[in-house]
Amino acid sequence: MSKIEIPIYDPRPEIAALRSEIDAAIRRVVDSGRFILGPEVEAFEREVAEYLGVRHAIGLNSGTDALVIGLRALGVGPGDEVITTPFTFFATAEAISLVGAKPVFVDVDPRTFNIDPALIPAALTERTKAIVPVHLYGQAADMDPILEIARQYGLKVLEDTAQAFGGEYKGKKLGTIGDAGAFSFFPTKNLGGFGDGGLLATNDDGVAEMARMLRTHGAKKKYRNEILGYNSRLDTLQAAVLRVKLRHIDAFNEARRALAHAYTAQLAELEGVTPLYEAPYGTHVYHQYTVRIADGRRDEVAAGLAERGIGAMIYYPTPVHRLPIYNEPAGCCPLAEAAAEEVLSLPIGPFLDLSTQARILKALLQR
Ligand SMILES: Cc1ncc(COP(=O)(O)O)c(C=O)c1O
Repeated sequence: MSKIEIPIYDPRPEIAALRSEIDAAIRRVVDSGRFILGPEVEAFEREVAEYLGVRHAIGLNSGTDALVIGLRALGVGPGDEVITTPFTFFATAEAISLVGAKPVFVDVDPRTFNIDPALIPAALTERTKAIVPVHLYGQAADMDPILEIARQYGLKVLEDTAQAFGGEYKGKKLGTIGDAGAFSFFPTKNLGGFGDGGLLATNDDGVAEMARMLRTHGAKKKYRNEILGYNSRLDTLQAAVLRVKLRHIDAFNEARRALAHAYTAQLAELEGVTPLYEAPYGTHVYHQYTVRIADGRRDEVAAGLAERGIGAMIYYPTPVHRLPIYNEPAGCCPLAEAAAEEVLSLPIGPFLDLSTQARILKALLQR
């Protein structure tokens, strides 16, 4: 096996570029001696709320917890069904199951691999309580028809925005369009910390109050626990690092978009490698740059890239309904199943330069 020289994402150039700001932020927290919540987390929450244009931003300890806490704060629980996509990271469905509800998988739009709203009505039952669309790879799910179905049937909408910080749908920031939005600050995410982190955004005061309670053991007031909650606070050091990165997120997302468009332009010539469609209704922030490789050749192409030191990745090799825990029969979601056979994500990041991209493209051409 050859060594990966160009990883799918390398956080180091970003850290190097922001080094003095980050060092100062970390020093500020260390010097304050305040490591749980406090002014740093409050400032980050305020700055994110302002950036997103939303009333409340609640810092949590992961994107997974943001989904769990978001679902509970929206009133989803045992016996409920929640419609979601099978073409996502497991955590989306896991969170639904963890609150005692049942994930109901609806197939994807073959152009974007996001949930296909046209297929949602057939999946509704008396028990349907919510829809969790995922903005996969940094691209908005088609929210208008989803919101219309939710309005018609009285459903809640929780956006899984783990991969799409800063992305937009028709001029609105993702994660602020439904009833709440769950974000992840896992280090590889567009806004990534130095460890786990997450956040719930909402315009609903009641949902925000419940989410704040849930993150601190179900208590509004210390030692007055009212419900069973979690220990799920955004770490103070992470908040300080994320505040620095937040100041640069638009420039970083713009750099990702430019690189993605350069990939797409150059891949136009390459037969058998098809870039994913960029829908005109949004601003795709390219958490991943993903292509389709047809005719059963994807694994061979991925292996060829690995041989040449390039870390292409498959997100995701198994649609969630086919994972051992759910083990639903194949055929429920044929387009997601086909996508899992064909997708390949290429290295991308705000600091990946054009000469590195040229190496990746050359390696693809040599396959
Ligand atoms: C779509 C999606 N949902 C949820 C998560 C969970 O986020 P975290 O790893 O912060 O728990 C992730 C990423 O890891 C993700 O990509």
